[in-house]
Amino acid sequence: MKRCLIVGAGGFGREVLSWALAMANPEWNIVGFLDSKTSALDGKNMPLGIVGDPATWEPQSDEVFLCGIGDSGTRLRVCGELRDKGARFVSVVHPTVTLGLNASIGDGCVVAPHAVISVSATLDDFVLVNIAASVGHDTVVGAGATISSHCDLMGYARLGRGAFMGSHSCVLPSVIVGDFAIVGAGSAVVRKVAARTTVMGVPAQLLFKHEE
Ligand SMILES: CC(C)(COP(=O)(O)OP(=O)(O)OC[C@H]1O[C@@H](n2cnc3c(N)ncnc32)[C@H](O)[C@@H]1OP(=O)(O)O)[C@@H](O)C(=O)NCCC(=O)NCCS
Repeated sequence: MKRCLIVGAGGFGREVLSWALAMANPEWNIVGFLDSKTSALDGKNMPLGIVGDPATWEPQSDEVFLCGIGDSGTRLRVCGELRDKGARFVSVVHPTVTLGLNASIGDGCVVAPHAVISVSATLDDFVLVNIAASVGHDTVVGAGATISSHCDLMGYARLGRGAFMGSHSCVLPSVIVGDFAIVGAGSAVVRKVAARTTVMGVPAQLLFKHEE
């Protein structure tokens, strides 16, 4: 059995612990969190503690890692650095998730309770699909993207690397959201969103372009 470490002990890391325990995967034994903030679990009454800092951790062959960082950019950076040092990331898929035929889930993903990953949808590595979100048929989700709770990514849509969809937002069929774009909560994306821009509203409009 592998020792399992959760990278990130913030609110999302604690959710990942809850969902990973619900999976009851017989191949892992969850032993604790990695976080540079040693006080992150103070007062949180968690059954496991912080056992190290991801920046200095040396991954071992008997360890697997779960991604517990909510922010797309930080998730890609911190988990990417660990993977470059040899860390093997595995994914959390809660037992209540509905998976379509030929749905594909990369390494280091988190698929939260009651999410749907529909037929032939593809999640690249380090993707977060939060509670009750829906990833439609034949959609492609880039590495490190975040799909917040109750989002609806409709069929053949594409979400770029590190893109973020706020809660209750949707992307219409076949529409593309660019790399590291941000979609505001409750927005409806009806046309292509350029990379590194923030959009919001119904229909979603440009709010601003991000600095390089
Ligand atoms: C779109 C968003 C990223 C903008 O954040 P921001 O750059 O900090 O912008 P502000 O909060 O300063 O808001 C700018 C303006 O847009 C409006 N606005 C913000 N979010 C909006 C949204 N989702 N829909 C419509 N209008 C919104 C604000 O009221 C404000 O209007 P004003 O200038 O007339 O006062 C943010 O509001 C958002 O929706 N984040 C998603 C949060 C989420 O779903 N998290 C997942 C759960 S953890």
